[in-house]
Formats: sequence, C-alpha cells, structure tokens
Amino acid sequence: MKSRTPYRKNLYVTLGIIFVAFSIATQIVDFVSAQQSNDPLTGNWVVRSPNADGTSRNTYFNLKQDGPKITGSIRVTQFYYQITESTGGPEAFTIIGNMKDGKTDRRVQYEGKLVGDELRVSTRRRPTDKPTEVTAQRAPAGEGALPARIAPPALHKVKDNGLARTPPMGWNSWNKFAGRVDDVTVRSVADAMASNGMKEAGYRYINIDDTWEGGRDAQGNIQTNKKFPNMKSLADYVHGKGLKLGIYSSPGPNTCAGYEGSYGHEEQDAKTYAAWGIDYLKYDWCGARTLYTDAEMPAVYQKMGDALLASGRPIVYSLCQYGRFDVWQWGADVGGNLWRTTGDIRDSWDSMSRIGFGQDELARWARAGHWNDPDMLEIGNGGMSETEYKTHMSLWAILAAPLLAGNDLRSMSPGILEILTNREVIAVNQDQEGKQGRQVWKSGDQEIWSRPLSDGSTAVAVFNRGKDEAKVSVKWADLGIVKKRAARDLWLLRDVEAQGPEYSATVPGHGVVMLRVK
Ligand code: GLA
Repeated sequence: MKSRTPYRKNLYVTLGIIFVAFSIATQIVDFVSAQQSNDPLTGNWVVRSPNADGTSRNTYFNLKQDGPKITGSIRVTQFYYQITESTGGPEAFTIIGNMKDGKTDRRVQYEGKLVGDELRVSTRRRPTDKPTEVTAQRAPAGEGALPARIAPPALHKVKDNGLARTPPMGWNSWNKFAGRVDDVTVRSVADAMASNGMKEAGYRYINIDDTWEGGRDAQGNIQTNKKFPNMKSLADYVHGKGLKLGIYSSPGPNTCAGYEGSYGHEEQDAKTYAAWGIDYLKYDWCGARTLYTDAEMPAVYQKMGDALLASGRPIVYSLCQYGRFDVWQWGADVGGNLWRTTGDIRDSWDSMSRIGFGQDELARWARAGHWNDPDMLEIGNGGMSETEYKTHMSLWAILAAPLLAGNDLRSMSPGILEILTNREVIAVNQDQEGKQGRQVWKSGDQEIWSRPLSDGSTAVAVFNRGKDEAKVSVKWADLGIVKKRAARDLWLLRDVEAQGPEYSATVPGHGVVMLRVK
C-alpha cells in the first residue's frame, strides 16, 4: 500500500506557498494604498536613540494627516508639543509644534518626508545650526502618549525636616560629567573628597544628578540603568567614607535629559530612596511642564515633600525649578531646604557673575534650613581664571548659597583645591546665623557686599566686575561698622590694618578682596 505522507507534504507545501503569496500580496496592496491614500503620514512614529546606559531617548511624532493638513503632537524628552502649523505632504512636509511652558511659548519645527514606511525628519536648534537628521519608525498606537494628568493635592504646610541648618556642602555630578556619570566615577569622587581635605573642610554630600534612572519594574519600582548596578551598595560605600549620597528626579513623567521621572510614583520613589540610603534629593521640574502650570508648582512639590517625610529617612529636599513662580516665597512651606533661584549656571564669567550678583533682592528669604540656591559651583572646570573662581567662592559664601562643587575632584590643581577648601571663607558661608549677605555699595564695576555673622563680626567682600585692577575705598561708616575694629583678609589669610575710617583695597579685574571685620 502506498503511504499517504508525500501526498500530505505536497498539500502543506502548496498551502505554504499560497499563504506566503497572499501575505506578500496584502503587503503590496497595503503599501500601494498607503502611497495612494491621502494620509499615509497618519500614525504613531518613534525615533529611538540609544544611550550608552541601556536606556534610549525616544522622540514620538503622533501624526494625523488630513489631505494637506497635519495635526497631532511631538513628544521629546521633557517636552510635549501640539502641532499647530503644517505645510506639504508625504514627499516633503514641515510641521511646527508649540507648547506653553510657564511664561514661555516653546516652539519646534521639523522638516520631513516619507521614504518607504520610514519617516526621515530633521530639525535644528537654532535657524543657523546644521540640521540633525533622524529616522522614525511606526510605533504601536498609544506608545509614548502623555500620561493622564493627576490633579495636584490641596496645599498644606509641610513640617520642617530639621535638616540643612547651614547651606549644604558637597559635590554634584552634572556640571562636569552630565550624562557620563556612573558608579565608578561616584565612588572615586567620594574617595577624593574623603582624602583631599574637602571632607575636613565640611563637604558631605556626593550628589548624583540626572541620567542614573532606568525604567520601572512590573510593580512600578524605579530601576537604575546599567551605569549604576547597585544603588544600595553605592550608598553603603559612600556612607563608609563618612559622606552622604544624593540623587535626582523630577515631578514630571520625564527628567530634563528624558529619563524616567517620579510622576505618579512619588511615595514609592521616596521609599525606594530611603531603602537605598539616599540622603538628599534634587527634584527638577523638567517634564512636569507638560502637565502643570507654574501656579501648580507648590502643590506638586509639596507631594514629594510629604513623601520624603513619610519615608522616615532624613533626606534634604532641593527644589529645582529655575526660580519660577517666586519659589522663595513658598519653597520652605512645601518642605524645601533649598530652591534654585535661576536657570542653569555655565562655566563662564558672564554666566556666574550675572547669576551671583543678581541675588541681592532675595536675601530676606534665606534662613537656617531654607536657602536660596544660585546653582552649583563651576570652580575648577576650566572656563574661568583662579581669580574669577575666587570671586565665585566669595560670592557664594556671602550669599549663604549651597557649596556644591561641580568639578572633577580626582584631578584638580592645588590652586583649585585651595579655593574650595578655604576654611575662613567657608566659615562665612556656614555661619550659624544663616543671614544672606547683600550689596551695600556700588560704583561702576565695583561693588561691596556684606554679611552679618553670628559672632557680631561682618563679612565684607569688595568685588571688581571690571576687567582692570581697581582701587576701592571701603568706608566703614557706609557699611554701618562704627566700633573699633580688627580685620582679616580671608584670601591672604592675614590680619590687616583697619583702624582708620576707611580701608583701601586693590582688587584685580574680575577679582575680590574679602575681609572679616570684628
Ligand atoms: C536641569 C537642571 C540642571 C541639571 C539638568 C539635568 O537643566 O537645572 O542642574 O540637573 O537639568 O538634566
């Protein structure tokens, strides 16, 4: 008897061929009809740009094409734009997205075209820049959609956590390392701080800024990315050096660099930080701008303030929302120990001096436990001279500003280390009275700032914002200093003659003469 097997085989082969032919035919029909239909751009598109840490930076174009009109949204890192203008079609189109961000109207523009079933898009930061070109693929519907808005809680006063009675001192990874910070770097920076005299001078916090975040597990717990294999063990290591560990997050769905934020997971994240042994949180508005108005900032920040308190671990709470919505007026009420008063500092004289000398009006809001934060130090990052870095350090000391070094502590010059560890300047910064200094005199490029100190003495800084050396007469009476006095130069580290009615200071261009007058 003949076996039936070859017969079956033939049948399967024939069915297989029919199936393959059918799917090819449907794909061709789909493709042709997409080409012919007038809305082939419609759909959800994603550009995935991998980061070295296993995460990826995704840009979503959620497009709806209706003949010559393209509407929809663009989501990139912390931003979410509505498309408000468009021209062209699949062969060549331009879309313009807008978003409201506090008082600012943000705008992006992309040029693109459909090639096969890929979207080739390009954009430029500034009109004069070379365009960056990327390719978007179709993404499942709903991927990258903005999460639903959670209404902010009603306001109440968050109990003072009792921390940061003097301005926090430490180091933060962002200014020098940005997205390159990793476990090894953090450990070696902690080693450096513990052994180079900084710890003895009062520096404590080792703060990891943005880009440590991974995604979330099935229970919603925040994960670290590949750069930080074990946050608990890192915290143990840093604590073992007698130092403290800080971390970074955002009240929004995304951080500024586009990583996972704490949105909708505030309590859970605070508990995770506490379990890891975290001692400091910098909480950066970033992606929250897509869901909340500036007026909602207090309530949104209060949420994490409450969550940190509830975590049971003492965690310094640092608000970072670039000084919007007069944060100094409500920062303490939502549990904040410090709040940024400005946009990001850069390692240049212009940036540092504009920020530093612009803080005068905010003095009344600083007090023990609650500080104005004109941003982290750039000392030692190379963009300024040592004279300028001394001005940076002196100004931050007078301002009772947090002293968070932002350079590579493992490889700085002795000159930079000396600036960062000047005990007498640090003593001004850390004064128990917690009063922020103010500008008391100004003439052209020269300014005198002073700060009352707890032992009855006064810190006096004579600044020269001009390029050339200048002679400044400090008239004690102008500063309200009337009693007989002794003075010490805090950079020369020696007592100076101050008996007469005025003191003559020779101040280098962009430099400072800083005194403590008793
Ligand atoms: C914002 C902050 C910076 C830094 C970056 C990280 O720009 O102001 O200090 O934290 O985000 O992405």
